[in-house]
Amino acid sequence: MRKHVTLITGAGGEIGHGLIERLTADGDSAIITIDLQPLEQRLASRVEKEYQGSILETHLLERILSEYEVERIYHLAAILSTRAEFTPVTGHQVNVEGTLKLLDFAQAQGESHGRAVVFLYPSSIAAYGLPDLETKAAAGAVREYEWNHPTTMYGCNKLYCEHLGRYFARHYKQLAAESLSGKVDFRAIRFPGLISAVTVPSGGTSDFAPEMVHAAARGESNACFVRPDTRIPFMVMPDAVDALVGLAKAESSMLGRSVYNITAFNPSAEEIRSLVLEGFPDADITFDPDLKRQAIVDSWPSDVDDSAARSDWGLAPRYDLEGGFADYLIPRIRDLYRT
Ligand code: SER
Repeated sequence: MRKHVTLITGAGGEIGHGLIERLTADGDSAIITIDLQPLEQRLASRVEKEYQGSILETHLLERILSEYEVERIYHLAAILSTRAEFTPVTGHQVNVEGTLKLLDFAQAQGESHGRAVVFLYPSSIAAYGLPDLETKAAAGAVREYEWNHPTTMYGCNKLYCEHLGRYFARHYKQLAAESLSGKVDFRAIRFPGLISAVTVPSGGTSDFAPEMVHAAARGESNACFVRPDTRIPFMVMPDAVDALVGLAKAESSMLGRSVYNITAFNPSAEEIRSLVLEGFPDADITFDPDLKRQAIVDSWPSDVDDSAARSDWGLAPRYDLEGGFADYLIPRIRDLYRT
């Protein structure tokens, strides 16, 4: 008999860290992981098995298929928005071809054990693309179906993979004699920028916020790469992990959509700077906008309407802007860098 497990790809990344801690704290240790790098020891010791390698390696997925019954997949592996602009074809390979492989793997798993595999997909505010700042200001909090015109490779990848997931869930091989759809229960969250007290992101464009607070805690100066008035939605990592787990556990009959916006607050970069200064009064934070990365952030909405997530599956972030800094980020980051 194959053991029933949850699979996490990109497990060593920012969301993976928080997710493994959260799931194992809840008593769920039947977790297998894939990551290019070995997991940190404190994470590795919490999971059933760790596979080191790329999601693009078919033999790795075949091995997992032969050894485990995967019931749930958190497909977190991706190349983020800034990095993918330097290597768009690699971005597409990892973000799209990798996701296609995982969806195909989920379909094979579902067909093999007969139950739908719940497939959690982190999409992003990068799936949106607003043409200019006037439109961004006028648009306010956007709904999931508005302004789906991403300007980045990463955003295009995320938007397309949302559609791929919906295809596998509802229309897979629709002309086959026997219906094979329904074996993948695809659920996506369009995450806002995320800020963790434990890890620093790499290769994203919302990184200006976490970089500011981590630099302050390390006693390093920070030149923020966007203008002070730049505004996009954000959330702290514990709420992001809660949201993923909450959506994973939701009754499928409650889910009216396959893709959900979520957010917790949407400060300007200047407001983030002020909150960081409250926690670290000596912080040296200046603004030195990188016009090209600025243009990417300017194309993302200043806010998203997450009312569908709140009503369908009870999204309820614990931390607002002030609480997120005062009760989570500042004290936890202080501990992280305390020598
Ligand atoms: N935080 C991501 C990035 O900046 C967006 O999903 O690329």
